[in-house]
Amino acid sequence: MRPQPYRLQRVRHETYDTFTLELEGADGRGGSFAPGQFNMVYLLGVGEVPISISGDPARPGSLVHTIRAVGTVTKPMVRLKRGDMLGVRGPFGSSWPVEEAKGRDAVILAGGIGLAPLRPALYHLLSHRDDYRRVVLLYGARTPDDLLYTDELEEWRSRFDVEVGVTVDAASGNWKGNVGVVTTLIPWARFEPSEAVAMVCGPEVMMRFTVQALQEKGMTADNIFVSMERNMKCGVGFCGHCQWGPTFICKDGPVFRCDRMELFLWKREI
Ligand SMILES: Cc1cc2nc3c(=O)[nH]c(=O)nc-3n(C[C@H](O)[C@H](O)[C@H](O)COP(=O)(O)OP(=O)(O)OC[C@H]3O[C@@H](n4cnc5c(N)ncnc54)[C@H](O)[C@@H]3O)c2cc1C
Ligand code: FES
Repeated sequence: MRPQPYRLQRVRHETYDTFTLELEGADGRGGSFAPGQFNMVYLLGVGEVPISISGDPARPGSLVHTIRAVGTVTKPMVRLKRGDMLGVRGPFGSSWPVEEAKGRDAVILAGGIGLAPLRPALYHLLSHRDDYRRVVLLYGARTPDDLLYTDELEEWRSRFDVEVGVTVDAASGNWKGNVGVVTTLIPWARFEPSEAVAMVCGPEVMMRFTVQALQEKGMTADNIFVSMERNMKCGVGFCGHCQWGPTFICKDGPVFRCDRMELFLWKREI
């Protein structure tokens, strides 16, 4: 439960409100984790927030978090500089089904900041590329200025062994790509619904419609996984803050198989 001290090594500004922090343990410790897991990140004297790990699981030497500045804790984090200290507890929670997806089509669907928790899964799929059939990334953001990891998106697009679809909800004249919500990419994406595993993360409304669209394409709920974000305090199943019936999002999730969470997906924030 006690946060461990981590020192900030690098800050990268991804968009006008989103930044990536690379941290290293004060004792040189990095952070092994499974794709999809999160840490409780403590800004000293301000507060603690759950943040997914967005780095490469094969490079646990540094701990990487991509954070959108939305409120009390995350807004002051924008001002952090190299050398500043943060507290970290974790990693916590369940992970994306990269093992179950072996030998099948792996489809990643992200909305906005939802690409951050999915990036480690994509790194894993690409570094074990021969273990999977098709690998597909479908990513949507509000505007072109909201797109994360734009250099990497270009790099992934240039590969012949991964299909990348990017769309924005709204754009001005300079944007040459797709306009429309992420679900509009699903009918055109090349994967075999009966052979696919889908991993979905984004705002809850995006996840609801994405799950629906995947089912319309022929996927069953037991092959669709979603990551739920709910208010958390302890992160380890003690406080009940994230509890829904018998389920604790922090320790049973945040990644859930959709058939176990379908009802929950249709409930608003609790
Ligand atoms: C398992 C898990 C993983 C997460 N991973 C990430 C991650 O990788 N990166 C990341 O940036 N965030 C992530 N979040 C969300 C993050 O924890 C919250 O954005 C953060 O707790 C907000 O804290 P705050 O004190 O800055 O804002 P608060 O002061 O708590 O909120 C301020 C205002 O912002 C609104 N708000 C709060 N959260 C959000 C949100 N997510 N989007 C839009 N508005 C919001 C509130 O409704 C409120 O109006 C994750 C959450 C969970 C549960
Ligand atoms: S955050 Fe405390 S029980 Fe889940």
